[in-house]
Amino acid sequence: MTDDSEQLKTLIHDTIRSGRLRHAVLSRPVRRDADLPERIDIRRVTLRRGDCFQWSGRQQNQMHHTNLSDHETAEQLVRHAGCDYRHIHLTCDHRAWTARYSRRGRCRLQPDRSFRPADSDSSQTADHNRRRAYLLPENEPVPFLIETGIMTPEGRVRKRHYRKFRQINRYVEFIADVVDRLPQDDVVRVVDFGCGKSSLTFAVHHYLTRVAGRRVDILGLDRRQDVIDSCRRISESLQLPGLHFEQGDIAGCRLEPPVHLVISLHACDTATDDALARAVQWDSDVILAVPCCQHELLASADRQPLPLLERHGILKERLCVLATDAVRAAILERAGWQTQVIEFIETEHTPRNVLIRAVRRTDEQARSLAAQAAEQQLAQFSDRLGIPPLHLERLLFSDAAAQVDRPSAVPRSGS
Ligand SMILES: C[S@@+](CC[C@H](N)C(=O)[O-])C[C@H]1O[C@@H](n2cnc3c(N)ncnc32)[C@H](O)[C@@H]1O
Repeated sequence: MTDDSEQLKTLIHDTIRSGRLRHAVLSRPVRRDADLPERIDIRRVTLRRGDCFQWSGRQQNQMHHTNLSDHETAEQLVRHAGCDYRHIHLTCDHRAWTARYSRRGRCRLQPDRSFRPADSDSSQTADHNRRRAYLLPENEPVPFLIETGIMTPEGRVRKRHYRKFRQINRYVEFIADVVDRLPQDDVVRVVDFGCGKSSLTFAVHHYLTRVAGRRVDILGLDRRQDVIDSCRRISESLQLPGLHFEQGDIAGCRLEPPVHLVISLHACDTATDDALARAVQWDSDVILAVPCCQHELLASADRQPLPLLERHGILKERLCVLATDAVRAAILERAGWQTQVIEFIETEHTPRNVLIRAVRRTDEQARSLAAQAAEQQLAQFSDRLGIPPLHLERLLFSDAAAQVDRPSAVPRSGS
């Protein structure tokens, strides 16, 4: 039986960090203990000094309330899960999940299908009125956000740029999560591949220098000269140290390692693979990539192992997207990175909402075991679906290039 403890941990941290968690319940204590309430309710509340979570539980016939910060709540939920309580229920605005621990301590995490968003209307007002605690604050002028047009000079996020603002904030939250893996005292070297107009690149510079207090050397790279020119103009006018922009193709980017953090947000098609391959070749500590459109598998496929799915264009396309990201994650595991594929942001902000988070394993034994397992799983998966070695696999493992005659999965788009 599978164990979803790690997924539960990630879900707890992600939903709290993004400000989405509204209510959690711990129930079914694992032992009779006067100090362990039968049930603990954890609700987001707004106090004068800011938002926090209120923990409420009945002990010896008396209700007790304690207010904990986001960080403390995440830590405590993870600590209690499975160890003190067998059931954990998490409710966000639009979704809910239940985690149940077996007597053997295995966790099963499932979406709560009985959950209806309207169920929770009563507490929604408070939550919606609450301003999200973004790492890049709203209503506070931030020079690069003003220069890139996302904010007005008074610090108001322009309506048409709100999605972008939300996306870069979310991305920065993911960086905040892994900041401990980046050098503390040395210069942190970062590359943003396919930086485009670079609101993310500027945001990462802002976060690492202003919030995390690091010295940085950040490169934004894009093949479009016009966007690079405009990013340089903004960077020069704001006099941002350690930030520069280059025009070029990801595949041709040659830098001397170390590059500690590689990021890409919606780099087109196989540009994401070029970015992942560069990061692996540089032995980067952390890779964060949100892929964009994917055409490679769709265009290269000429066999139909799953005809029911592949009969319908939209399903076939989604199958190819899912399979490509699954293969990318397995390849990164095989290369030695602990990899997760997680939700980047709610689909209302962008349909391209999958984030690949890969952190380089430092324990050699764990690295080699995980790599072997990933290699096997990848071979099995590709065999079953008839997936040929994809761009990333060919870039990183030259033996994959020799296997190009592996049958492929899905017919050519439109055939
Ligand atoms: C959808 S935009 C995303 C821009 C930015 N990351 C963001 O999210 O706002 C994709 C960018 O990737 C760049 N790009 C795509 N393929 C590339 C490649 N192979 N090398 C360099 N840049 C590339 C494009 O020029 C474009 O600016």
